[in-house]
Amino acid sequence: MTQRILFLGPPGAGKGTQAQLLCASRGLLHLSTGDLLRGEVKAGTALGQEAEAVMARGELVSDQLVLAIVRGRLSGHQGGWLLDGFPRNLTQAEALETLLTELAQPIERVVLMELDDDLLLQRLLGRGRADDNEAVIRHRLSVYAEQTAPLIEHYNQQGLLVAVESSGTVEAIAERISAALD
Ligand code: AP5
Repeated sequence: MTQRILFLGPPGAGKGTQAQLLCASRGLLHLSTGDLLRGEVKAGTALGQEAEAVMARGELVSDQLVLAIVRGRLSGHQGGWLLDGFPRNLTQAEALETLLTELAQPIERVVLMELDDDLLLQRLLGRGRADDNEAVIRHRLSVYAEQTAPLIEHYNQQGLLVAVESSGTVEAIAERISAALD
């Protein structure tokens, strides 16, 4: 069974929702850099203070900071994992590849969750997280298009990418993802 998975997709595509379900059913570590950063903000750590304003604007937190978090979580971990929201740009993807080579734990599959912008906006406006107002969502979408979308071709060239249509019910999407992974 596929054990080392990366979820790629725009804000609101359902990465976090589907990652929780898949990790529960396969016993994988769910590593969401967004959740980890929000945890730091909530705890008021120095790292959280640095990240808070950047996240509120819908921009990317520094690569160095995010890489330190991921390295710390993956290094001692035995077993499978799912990376959700990381990597976000080519610099992070290359640093991840270096780390995974060191750990002898290559990525097995990259799931691209695809959804129209109108539906993304609708879902996120319905959630109401601190960075879920229309102006910031539109900015997150443009940051995704400029910085994260180039990873689609990056992983496609490596033969790792599988695209999953991410409209419909949570259950229907979960079935599509499971089918794409097996
Ligand atoms: P992050 O937390 O990663 O947010 P995101 O990518 O913008 O994604 P979201 O959490 O908004 O959406 P999702 O795809 O996970 O969808 P979800 O399941 O929640 O990043 C936030 C910020 O942190 C970034 O802007 C950046 O500042 C920083 N950051 C994070 N990682 C970073 C990194 N690597 N480098 C630098 N900075 C980083 O679903 C969305 C909503 O839709 C929910 O309300 C959900 O209930 C609903 N929903 C889900 N599925 C369905 C469905 N099938 N039908 C109807 N509603 C649904």
